[in-house]
Amino acid sequence: MDNTDWFETLREKGQGVVDALGLGHRPWMQEFAQLGSVGYAQGWHERNGGNASMRLTTEEVVALRYYTTTNQQNPWVPLGVEVPAMAEECLLVTAAGCAMERVAQDPARFMGLVQIDGTGAYGRVLWGFEGGGRPTSELASHVVIQGARKEASDGASRVVYHCHPRVIAALGSVWPEDKALITTRLWKMMTEAIMVFPEGLGLVPCEVPGSLELAEATAEEARTHRAIVWSRHGLLATGNSCEDAFGLAHVVVKAAEIYRDACALAGGPDLPYLMTTAELKRLAAGLNICLNEACLAE
Ligand code: 13P
Ligand code: ZN
Repeated sequence: MDNTDWFETLREKGQGVVDALGLGHRPWMQEFAQLGSVGYAQGWHERNGGNASMRLTTEEVVALRYYTTTNQQNPWVPLGVEVPAMAEECLLVTAAGCAMERVAQDPARFMGLVQIDGTGAYGRVLWGFEGGGRPTSELASHVVIQGARKEASDGASRVVYHCHPRVIAALGSVWPEDKALITTRLWKMMTEAIMVFPEGLGLVPCEVPGSLELAEATAEEARTHRAIVWSRHGLLATGNSCEDAFGLAHVVVKAAEIYRDACALAGGPDLPYLMTTAELKRLAAGLNICLNEACLAE
């Protein structure tokens, strides 16, 4: 089943619940809510692990005005980071502590709309987080990544998806915190990898989850990478749509799983027939792909 099928199946399953809230005719909202369900089906979300954000278009914000007008008096709260590129933007984000597979079942409780002020340093809740909830503890990281990707993509990138695939966390104990080495190993695992992430993977060394240090280190990587590994923690994948971000995460995780399987078959990390870097370059040239030299190792 490819990603499109996943989304179609889950869209049908979630339809009734989302419709009950009057949100069913907004497929963009359903797709966002269902990111958690499709990630859960992959085993990428344990307990409250993972979160997501989507930067809304003006039309989408207007479509929610019926739900947001009563919340215009909510206080502005410091984000802990200042991201001018995100001034006046609105982000749909998942709630702190929520189980990602439940977001589509109760969108008004497990997600919410955060408006960012004109400086990019404060946010306020316009809708959602019903029952006393609040935005994800990784909100600062979402805001800095959204800002960096918005600038890098000329406004096209709108989704940030964070998940905890076990293979990504496991490899943190096996490979060094070196993004060129990690990227090149994954590029060599399957021909699809260079097509899907030719700019390579960003890498942030192990940091305290939810911290400003993590957000700041991630901001730097997000300028040049659409997918970022948080060492010993998980993965962030970004995209122009939910399918785009999820598909990117799927390919990164699959390449990592192939690496894990190859190491298991070989009885260790020395793979006897590992693709050479010359072969990798030949494939890239044949596909007209420009590999990011900063992520290319032997
Ligand atoms: P939240 O429940 O606050 O979103 O945290 C989950 C997580 O994955 C932290 O990195
Ligand atoms: Zn996490």
